Amino acid sequence: MPAPYNLSGRTAIVTGSSTGNGRAIAISLAEAGVNIVGVDLLPGPVNGTVKHEAPTLDLVREAYNVQSAFVQGDVSKEDTWESAVAAALAINGRIDILVNNAGILGKVGPLHECSLAQWNLIMNINLTAVFLGVKAVMPTMLAQKAREGSTRGTIITISSNAAHHGAPDKAPYCTTKGALVALNRSLAVDYGRDGIKCITVSPGIIATALNAKELSDPTKCINYRAQTPWPRFGRVEEVGSAVLFLCSDASDYCNGTDFAMDAGYIVA
Ligand SMILES: NC(=O)c1ccc[n+]([C@@H]2O[C@H](COP(=O)([O-])OP(=O)(O)OC[C@H]3O[C@@H](n4cnc5c(N)ncnc54)[C@H](O)[C@@H]3O)[C@@H](O)[C@H]2O)c1
Repeated sequence: MPAPYNLSGRTAIVTGSSTGNGRAIAISLAEAGVNIVGVDLLPGPVNGTVKHEAPTLDLVREAYNVQSAFVQGDVSKEDTWESAVAAALAINGRIDILVNNAGILGKVGPLHECSLAQWNLIMNINLTAVFLGVKAVMPTMLAQKAREGSTRGTIITISSNAAHHGAPDKAPYCTTKGALVALNRSLAVDYGRDGIKCITVSPGIIATALNAKELSDPTKCINYRAQTPWPRFGRVEEVGSAVLFLCSDASDYCNGTDFAMDAGYIVA
């Protein structure tokens, strides 16, 4: 890896690391030398239609010779975060990177048919969990020294292009993703002065378990493709490499911004 992308010895917590974008993010960071603490409901994919050769944390340890740990838990619960912070500190006493990636699409359909329980579930997993994650890692990030020529810490939060347009029948999901962009701006202002870089990433359509049901509908697929200047879906590896860039020293003048990676969908 060229110097700004060589992150050897740094430690990251990546949520939703077992599959999809989170697995790809963990792999990209590990390839750059980052120790990984993965957090997820299960070590392997929750959705039975997705298969991987090895659980993410085993794969990164064996392929990239980094340290790794898996914390099984729900990101919307505080005790999951206590375990994740303890696992990261046990590696080398630092938390250099937090990637808030875990998320659900939740109830799809008209908002008036969404129950309060369904609404609260989406809010808790997609939004409150990010508040809990920031709250959990911040004391460590603030207390640690900045690495030479680098930041004191980096927080990447995976939003969505659904933050920026009214994706049909997904009002609760869009609400959480828009709120993450707003939350990130405040984090960047409040903690930027301490040398902590905070960025959201807004992917377009990436084929994963999250949207497998929708993408199995040929009409919707054709519509999505027709609305995108490059008429293809994104790959999880592309999310991984975007997050690596944003965690690397190559992007250290970026803060508070939202990084769109949607092939131009949102500007079309
Ligand atoms: N796939 C897309 O098109 C797309 C587009 C934009 C943004 N995103 C965002 O990317 C992120 C990852 O999505 P994905 O497409 O990889 O989905 P995915 O369903 O493939 O993976 C999500 C992972 O998060 C985990 N997870 C879900 N709820 C959790 C909880 N309460 N606690 C711990 N882990 C939990 C799941 O077990 C799973 O491993 C989400 O925030 C999603 O909103 C996805």
